[in-house]
Amino acid sequence: MTDTVSETGTGYGRPRPSHDARLTEVGPGTPMGEVLRRYWQPIASSSALTSDVPHRTRILGEDLIVFRDGQGRAGVVFERCAHRGSSLYYGRVEDDGIRCCYHGWKFDVQGHCLEQACEVGGGLRREVARQPWYPVEERYGLVFVYMGPPERKPELPRWDCLEELEEDESYHATWPIPGAEVVGPVSDFNWLQAYENAVDPVHAAWLHSAHSGFQFDGVGTIGFPESFFDHRTIAERVSYHRTDYGVKYVQKYQADAPEGEEGAELEWHVEVQVPNIIALPDYVQTTPDTRHDLLIWVVPVDDTHQRAFFALRSADPGRFMRFALGITQNGKQQFELTEEEAQRFPGDVEAQRSQGDITLHSEETLAPSDRGVVMLRRMLRTMMDDVEAGRDPQGVHPVDGEIRRVESRIITTSKTAAKDDADAAAARA
Ligand code: FES
Ligand SMILES: [Fe+2]
Repeated sequence: MTDTVSETGTGYGRPRPSHDARLTEVGPGTPMGEVLRRYWQPIASSSALTSDVPHRTRILGEDLIVFRDGQGRAGVVFERCAHRGSSLYYGRVEDDGIRCCYHGWKFDVQGHCLEQACEVGGGLRREVARQPWYPVEERYGLVFVYMGPPERKPELPRWDCLEELEEDESYHATWPIPGAEVVGPVSDFNWLQAYENAVDPVHAAWLHSAHSGFQFDGVGTIGFPESFFDHRTIAERVSYHRTDYGVKYVQKYQADAPEGEEGAELEWHVEVQVPNIIALPDYVQTTPDTRHDLLIWVVPVDDTHQRAFFALRSADPGRFMRFALGITQNGKQQFELTEEEAQRFPGDVEAQRSQGDITLHSEETLAPSDRGVVMLRRMLRTMMDDVEAGRDPQGVHPVDGEIRRVESRIITTSKTAAKDDADAAAARA
């Protein structure tokens, strides 16, 4: 770049823009792809995986089939048949496996070839055929898959916020979106754009309030006070912290109170656990000093698409719908907007999708309020270095005991009458 360009700031003669491939690309053998493959990833909703037709999905750039055989075992195998490549999407699920439509080869959930229908004796050498497969486990209403090196397979994690189920509680992990119930809804931009949004509290003080009008349903009613979103004070109210499993931000705010009374001092804690989990408290009906109950996974489909999965522990089915529909734009859901409404009332989709299929890191100008994003990227880079050096990346194994601590919650920090009552009740219990 010449001095003239940098001085004038015009667009002329700028170097070709580029994305950070190391941070964003996820295919087999890529640095981030290898990191993501070291963790169990959600691939389907357990309760929605009931039909006897196979489901097609793509995760980390690999085309996969998810099915549940007649014995109730979930299976994940490559989509292309090991014989001559027909798609098992057109296969038939049977009691002990899935059978390809083309020549009737049947594979079990570990890819063993059980039968080659058109060969003598069902295939005398059928054991040499193996459909590529991945290990699967089910927990919290989700089917998890492990796509990494078999000898490095960790235990499927447990999180304190999802255990133990209390009376009347159950797990919710199925999107109420037609066509997305089993394998989740897809967004058409890079996974890291969606993930970084979770450590960017500042955007809520601009995009979701000052710019587009309050977009969180609970504002001014049972949820946040308007002052939560004050963009003039947000920088001083937010701090960023490393945790055992990732990064969290803490946002201070004050509850609304009747004339002449002092509202309680509160803190909103949101943690992300690397490589791709978000622990988001209820942002519609905010309830201080309760146990956290929700994890969200941003699962890369390929370099330019991602799927969202979630697991919620709740006795309140309304909590689930509030979460799913909790951000409105001009009183509507994002998919209901006209083009002009999307321009006048943009939300997360407009902001993140318009960063590009993969954002152009060479064109960014980071500022102090991007601290969470910077901490997250630094952590992910260290994890890639660790994997390349033969070490386990952060959080593959639990830090302390079996159950992972999740630090998301809303905490009352001031002494108020309500807090005193709650403390006294807790002490009696
Ligand atoms: S291609 Fe699948 S059985 Fe022949
Ligand atoms: Fe947002």
